[in-house]
Amino acid sequence: MKISEAMTAAINEQIKAEYDSAYIYLAMSAYLKDAGLDGMSHWMRKQHKEEIEHAEKFIDYLYERGARVIIPEIAKPKENYADAIEAFRTAYAHEQYVTSRIYKLVDLAVEEKDYATQSMLKWFVDEQMEEEDNTGGIVAKLEFLGSDKHGIYTVDRELASR
Ligand code: FEO
Repeated sequence: MKISEAMTAAINEQIKAEYDSAYIYLAMSAYLKDAGLDGMSHWMRKQHKEEIEHAEKFIDYLYERGARVIIPEIAKPKENYADAIEAFRTAYAHEQYVTSRIYKLVDLAVEEKDYATQSMLKWFVDEQMEEEDNTGGIVAKLEFLGSDKHGIYTVDRELASR
């Protein structure tokens, strides 16, 4: 069964969203590096790479379905944050936004009875649960620590091992 034009367009928009996410995290990585938080910067850099892998999963899926991939323009990301907590809170909120986008894709796939796309999206539904858990967990830790510099240093070292 041929993939629909609406589904192809929606997945192309998601490819853009994944590259935008990659850039947002790369900019967060640069901000955190500049703030002397090398472990957090490393964590964000890894996140950046994961987002590119997500975009490529969607690209490969469209190739598999014989659909046209449109390489998107990437939006310029925010450069500065008040502190590490603000950066991770933004990342957490962004992941919740991405989850809502993935759910809309699932809705469309269900509506179109596109079972192949529903099956492919299952991986992303699970991945989003993990991404929200990871970013939300770091926010909770940083909020608990507040301005405790020793604690922040410990979290920074922990995140260096990702
Ligand atoms: Fe590709 Fe972080 O969602």
